[in-house]
Amino acid sequence: MKFPFLKGQLHKSKQQLIFLSNYRAYLYLPNAPTQTIAMARILTGIQSTGRPHLGNILGAMMPAIRLAKDPAHEALFFIADLHTLTTVKDPAQRQTYVQATAAAWLACGLDIEKVIFYRQSRVPAVCELAWYLNCFTPYPMLANAHAFKDKARRLSEVSTGLFTYPVLMAADILLYAADIVPVGQDQLQHLEIARDIAATFNRQYGDTFVLPQAQSRDNIQIIPGTDGQKMSKSYNNTIDPFALEKELKKAIMAIKTDSTPLDQPKNPDHCAVFKLYSMLANQALTADLRAKYLAGGYGYGQAKQALLALILEQFREERQRFRAYIQDPYSIEQQLIIGEAKARAMAEQMLEKVRTKLGYTPTTKNR
Ligand code: ADP
Ligand code: TRP
Repeated sequence: MKFPFLKGQLHKSKQQLIFLSNYRAYLYLPNAPTQTIAMARILTGIQSTGRPHLGNILGAMMPAIRLAKDPAHEALFFIADLHTLTTVKDPAQRQTYVQATAAAWLACGLDIEKVIFYRQSRVPAVCELAWYLNCFTPYPMLANAHAFKDKARRLSEVSTGLFTYPVLMAADILLYAADIVPVGQDQLQHLEIARDIAATFNRQYGDTFVLPQAQSRDNIQIIPGTDGQKMSKSYNNTIDPFALEKELKKAIMAIKTDSTPLDQPKNPDHCAVFKLYSMLANQALTADLRAKYLAGGYGYGQAKQALLALILEQFREERQRFRAYIQDPYSIEQQLIIGEAKARAMAEQMLEKVRTKLGYTPTTKNR
C-alpha cells in the first residue's frame, strides 16, 4: 500500500470534507468493502523572509513541485507570511518578500491548476484555529522546543509570537486535514507538536483532526553557501539564481576557495564551487569538472565562470518568468486569489466543525 499509515480508512473529518467541498481529495470506490484512498493531501509552507535563494529553491521548492505532480497527491502550498511577523516588521519589506517568494514558486513551475497556492494571511481562519489550539497546548512543550530555545538565546527581543510559532504552524496543517507535510530537518519537532496537539484535541472531542505525517527532506542535500556553510539568509551567504547577471556573477565570484595555486591539482570534494556545480550539472559535466580539478592547471576563477554559465543556462526560463512576475505584481495577485478562495472554503468547513465541538456556534432556534 502506498500510504500504509493511513490504513486504507478515511479519517472522519475527510469524509465530511468530501461531501461539503468542491475540491475532490478522495476517490470513492462505492462498492468496495472499505473506502480506498486515492489521494494523499500534502501541504507545506515557506516563510517569506527574503528573496528565495538556491538552497530554498533546490532544497524545498523544486522537490515540493515534483511531489505535487504525482497524481496520488493533492497539494496545498502556501507562503507563511504570518510567521514572518516574528522577524520582519517593515510592511514594504513584507510585500516585497511575499511577491518574491510567490514569483519564485510560480517561476519554478508551480501550477495553480494542480496546487492550491495561497498566502497564509489571506485565510484568517488560521488565526482563530491557532487560538483554540493554544488552549490545548501545554506550556512546557513550547518552552522546550529546540527552535524556540535557540532563537530565544540569540535574539535580543523574544516575542510571544515566537513562543507560539509552532501552534500557528499546527493550525496551518490541521486546518486543511493534511496527511503529509514535507519539511526540512529543523521543522520535525514542530510536526511532532502539531500531532500532539491534534491527538489531545481528538481524545477530548472525538475524531476531528488528521494526524499529519512529516516527510523529512533527509535525502535532499544541503546546498552550501558562498562561505561553504549551509546556505541561509541568516548567514548572508546566499546565491540568488534570479538576480541580475552582474549580481549573480558577483555572488559566485565571492565563493570562498582555498589558496591552492592555479597550476596545482585541487580537491573537488572540499570546494563549494564544485559542490554547487555538481548539484546542477549532469554526471558527464560533473565528471569533466572533477577531472579538471584533479589535473591541475585549472583555476577557481574558471570553475566559478563555469558555475555562472550553468546557473544561467539551467535557470534561463525560470529567470525570465521570475522577472515577468516581479514586473507585474498584479499577475501574481491574480494567481494567488484563486488558491486563496479555495483555501478559505476548505478552512471554513474545518473551523465550523471545531467551533461546534467547542460550543461556539450560535443558537439558531428561538427557545
Ligand atoms: P533560510 O535558512 O534561508 O532562512 P528557510 O529556513 O526559510 O531558509 O528555508 C525554507 C526551506 O528551504 C527549509 O525548510 C529547507 O528545507 C530549505 N532550505 C533552506 N536552506 C537550504 C539549504 N542550504 N540546503 C537545502 N535546503 C535548504
Ligand atoms: N515553519 C516553517 C519553516 O520555517 C514554515 C511553515 C509554517 C510550515 N507553517 C507550516 C511548513 C506548515 C510546513 C507546514 O520552514
